Order: sequence, then structure tokens, then C-alpha cells
Amino acid sequence: MHEKSQALLNQAVGDELSAVHQYMYFHFQCDDQGYDLLANLFRMTAIEEMRHIETLAERILFLGGDVELKATHEVRKLSDVREMLETARGMEESSVTDYNKFANQCSANADSATKQIFESLVLDEERHYDQYDNELVAMKKFGDNYLALQSIERSKNRSSGQTAE
Ligand SMILES: [Fe+2]
Ligand SMILES: [Fe+2]
Repeated sequence: MHEKSQALLNQAVGDELSAVHQYMYFHFQCDDQGYDLLANLFRMTAIEEMRHIETLAERILFLGGDVELKATHEVRKLSDVREMLETARGMEESSVTDYNKFANQCSANADSATKQIFESLVLDEERHYDQYDNELVAMKKFGDNYLALQSIERSKNRSSGQTAE
């Protein structure tokens, strides 16, 4: 049923999988450099993208298709914080554009349930975009102090006996 929707859903699965890989890579980089707040932001966002895969996969199976777990993009190996945030923000922007398009295509094919799934993803990806954009705004505002504040967070957590998630 709804073969065109199945193809769109699988394309989205590939993009979400790429986002999971990319954000986990950024998480490891930030964690290694001692930037706990950002490391946690990337990790939490990667988990949300994984939940998107779950939602998309359930719909594909419901429609009688199969899930293609193929990442659409290679992981970009970046270690500069600004480049990481700009890449992440760009990825979210593309997701918003794609999912709006996919929702319209599902509507044209009279598949309103899949359309609603894409619409709910648009809301999440816009929130992710905003998170990364806010970090870039803070970086511009605070300059070098921005990264210093990130490092202080780790010291605070260590001295109070907490470990970074
Ligand atoms: Fe997503
Ligand atoms: Fe996202």
C-alpha cells in the first residue's frame, strides 16, 4: 500500500540514520575536548533522531514495506566546534525542507497518516535547528568565553561528583 510513501519514508530513514551517526561523532569529539554541555546536546539530539527512525520504520512496516537501514551521507569528521554546529544546523534545515516536501507529496497521494508523520517531524527538526542556531548565536556573543564556559561545566560536574551523561 502507498508505495510512493514507502519510498519517501525510507529516504527519511536514511537521512535520520546519517544524523544519528553524525551527531554521535560530534558527541564523541565534544566529550573528548571537554565540552560537556555540547556533548550532551549532540547525544540527546542523536537519541531523538533514533526515535524518528522508529516512527518511520513502524509506518513502513504497516504499509507492507521493508526498512532500508542505509545512511545517505558519510560522517563528516570535524573537530572544530563552530564547524560542527554549522553542519548540524544545515542538516536540520535540509530535513525541514525535505519533510515539508514529503508531507505535500503524501497529501497529493491521499496518504494523510504518513503526511502527519512528516509534519510532526518538521516540528522536531525546527526545534533542533533552533537549538544549534542558539549555540551559534551564543558563540558569536561570548567569543572564546563560550568554550571556556563549556569547560567549566565539566569541572563543576566533576567537583560535585557527577559524571557527564
Ligand atoms: Fe529527525
Ligand atoms: Fe533533527
